[in-house]
Amino acid sequence: MADNRPIGVFDSGIGGLTVSKAISDLLPNESIIYFGDTKHLPYGDKSKETISYYALKICKYLLEQDCKMIVVACNSASTAAYDVLLDFFKGSTDFVNVVDPLVNNVSDKGFAKVGVIATKATIKSNVYQAKLLSKNKSLDVISKATPLLAPMIEKGFHSGEVSQTVIKAYLEDDQFDQIDAILLACTHYPLIKDEIDSYFKSKVKIYDSTTVVAEEVKQILVEKHKEADKNQGVYQFQVSDYTESFEETASLFYGKEINLAEKDIW
Ligand code: DGL
Repeated sequence: MADNRPIGVFDSGIGGLTVSKAISDLLPNESIIYFGDTKHLPYGDKSKETISYYALKICKYLLEQDCKMIVVACNSASTAAYDVLLDFFKGSTDFVNVVDPLVNNVSDKGFAKVGVIATKATIKSNVYQAKLLSKNKSLDVISKATPLLAPMIEKGFHSGEVSQTVIKAYLEDDQFDQIDAILLACTHYPLIKDEIDSYFKSKVKIYDSTTVVAEEVKQILVEKHKEADKNQGVYQFQVSDYTESFEETASLFYGKEINLAEKDIW
């Protein structure tokens, strides 16, 4: 029996589109309801309690839309609220976070020193550092909050002079000398992956959560026999506050015009 209910994916804004697109590419039959909480972004500057409250509300809404699984496509929410969500919804649906698949992917690569860049909330949570070290005790993990990057990307400033200047200001830091790899621990950052690669002159390996999360989603759907039938893939994009740049970026990502709906779920 196929399960044609949609997968719910959420983030504070456009960042989670990097994850939902990877899911659509790997699993084209799956329908997605994407929710961007543009009214409350950036999440990265908020407390664990506030992010957890937003995440709970959004997940409740997505489950009311009959989602069969929820992907927390935001590192700030994954680090602040994942445990809260599991506890609150008590096994009533499958949740996928963006941290574990990335940590699992990087920790067995034999690196000596890795950098982690993310929002303030993600870095402050210490979740990446702790999870990476629990997998590989001798790993040197350098973490840095880069709070301007997500709002900058959300406003459409990527692939240009502004983003290059901000990226340089954050990465020009002795701590990052000799890193083997850098983890883009914010789902907005894949949009500036090429610029980060140019900054490091392609000498540092760059990892993000996109394809590894899509693979995790696939694995769970297959294991639980919850895959959709052929040709089902329907995408709905919703935000808590309409912004043009969201609509533009989503259309760019999906390579076609998308219909953006504003939803007041508060
Ligand atoms: N894309 C998000 C993350 O992965 C949130 C960025 C923000 O709203 O601060 O953390």
